[in-house]
Amino acid sequence: MMLEHRQATVFFCPKAWKLFCGAGCYIKHMCGIFGYVGERQSDVALLAYWALRDLEYRGYDSWGIAAMTPEGIYIKKSVGKISDANEREFRGVSGKIAVGHSRWATHGGVSEVNSHPHFNRDRTISVIHNGIVENHNELRAFLREKLGVSHEDLFVSETDTEVIPHLIDYFLREGKNFEQAFVETGKMLEGRYAVVVMKKGEPYLLAMRDGSPLVVGEGRDEYYLASDVPAFLDHTRTVCYPGDREYLKVSADGMMMRSLENGTKVEPKWIEIVWDKVSATKEGHAHYMLKEILEQPLALDKAIHQEDEQLLAAARLMKEREHLFFIGCGTAAKMAKLGELYAATVGEKLATAFVGSEFNTYGRFLDRKSLLFAVSQSGETADVLEALSIGRKKGTKIISLLNVVGSSMDRMSDQKLFINTGPEIAVASTKAATAQIAVLILLAYALGKKLGEGKHLMRKVVKEMKQWVTLDLSREIRIVAQKLKDTNDLYIIGRGLNAPIAHEAAIKIQEVSYIHAEGFPGGELKHGPIALIQKGTLVIALIPNDETKRDMESNTTELKSRGAYIIGVSPSHSPLFDEWIQVPDIGVASPIASLIPIQLLAYHLAVLRGNDPDKPRNLAKSVTVK
Ligand code: F6R
Repeated sequence: MMLEHRQATVFFCPKAWKLFCGAGCYIKHMCGIFGYVGERQSDVALLAYWALRDLEYRGYDSWGIAAMTPEGIYIKKSVGKISDANEREFRGVSGKIAVGHSRWATHGGVSEVNSHPHFNRDRTISVIHNGIVENHNELRAFLREKLGVSHEDLFVSETDTEVIPHLIDYFLREGKNFEQAFVETGKMLEGRYAVVVMKKGEPYLLAMRDGSPLVVGEGRDEYYLASDVPAFLDHTRTVCYPGDREYLKVSADGMMMRSLENGTKVEPKWIEIVWDKVSATKEGHAHYMLKEILEQPLALDKAIHQEDEQLLAAARLMKEREHLFFIGCGTAAKMAKLGELYAATVGEKLATAFVGSEFNTYGRFLDRKSLLFAVSQSGETADVLEALSIGRKKGTKIISLLNVVGSSMDRMSDQKLFINTGPEIAVASTKAATAQIAVLILLAYALGKKLGEGKHLMRKVVKEMKQWVTLDLSREIRIVAQKLKDTNDLYIIGRGLNAPIAHEAAIKIQEVSYIHAEGFPGGELKHGPIALIQKGTLVIALIPNDETKRDMESNTTELKSRGAYIIGVSPSHSPLFDEWIQVPDIGVASPIASLIPIQLLAYHLAVLRGNDPDKPRNLAKSVTVK
């Protein structure tokens, strides 16, 4: 067991802090958080360990547990998966309060010092956090000025989170009590967060949330706080979900919930959870695929939080290279194609997209003047890695757009951009794909020297998506899926930016519903595929309000006059449509709006046809063989 006084210098690392400042980056994470307060006397750390194991799907690169024991604060942190830790390590730690955190870093250091909990200087305050403190730089400056200390004397980690315990500490020193100091701190935070705080000597936990998940479980003389219910489902099924900008004071005796803004009391709404533990890890959804589709507004929000410097540096490299090759496989190949299209249309730079497995033929054209741009969720796809290794041998620069930090592509690349969407568990890629589109759009705007415009557009897109991508949309698409579920064939057409989405739509439907689906550029129809159209053939037409609209309408007319049943995915209605899936008009980001309802359609088709959409037959999440 490690006690607080022994920890005092272990976490201090000015070197890491300097490196962090120099890189100008900050840590973003998805993470799982857990808090316990109650009458339990023994094995309180073990309880946190079990909970974190159940939250591991949310983050698994490092973890930490702190517990208030009669001997002092117990602290245990480590790099790696919590499930790799030995259960015995946590036995015998007695106490009534504990917090735990399982981290999934997508930017920068996976290290013990960056793992949570984070502490104030005398380590009396332990903080766990899921989300991003976007104004952490300003808050650091505020603390420096108020406390008159250097960064090195105050901060030991590279995280945005660490401002929280120092702010609470500052307000305590100003004469506020723990709860007041916590509330003052909460009011200063910008970004997304779910935060749980334990203070030595206080018999309660404080928690707050804005944007990141937090659920409370009510047991007998005990409460649980967690990112997701499986963390405590073995102990209670009575739960309540605090709203945004609400805070909680939780002790063994009860829970009090208030508004962070004005302190007004909020009545908790307790509900009973009926799911089993496995489905509960999906935040209440029946499948990971649905959860991941519905969390796209948040995933997009995370994806567009890129450092300007990084985008501009990548754009500079793209601009100055003679040959620019985008490369990816499967869904990522379709997104690579979009990268090519955005580079041309928004960034005014000619590029070529290749499917990873077909790149070998072109390897001979790689040289020091060319650039390989890899798009990959996992960063481990064998065919892309092979192309990158050819590039490396020839001195070709490499940029990768990834989700997984520390992956092979991360290590092979000169520059990397991360989509920051958190683990994608369902085999069929959904949230990673739209997040890739978002970053590719920002990059194209940076390439065209109008990054500000791109950021403005993407902020609007996120806002639109937050209103639109909800369970209501899912229900609407399920009704369409009911009508289509018995078909043997389905065709999808799109032009311009939506041509790669027609292809992506086809593989999404194939993968999980096992329906034969094919995507074509609208203009290619009359060169062959139109021969397949008969009365009742199902065709999805992607018709955004852009320069492709008129041509798409004429292609759709050709299909309609041959008896096709048209499902229009469009912001505007047309008499050509037998079914209309109305999507928001989001300009050049239209591929995002076209794709999301198709992902939902694929999902519902799979479920209605009795398939498991999370684990489609014959497929693996990461294809690490050729
Ligand atoms: C389809 C899908 C796959 C992946 C492909 C590449 O839904 O998920 O087609 O896109 O295997 O994987 P990453 O992006 O990890 O390189």
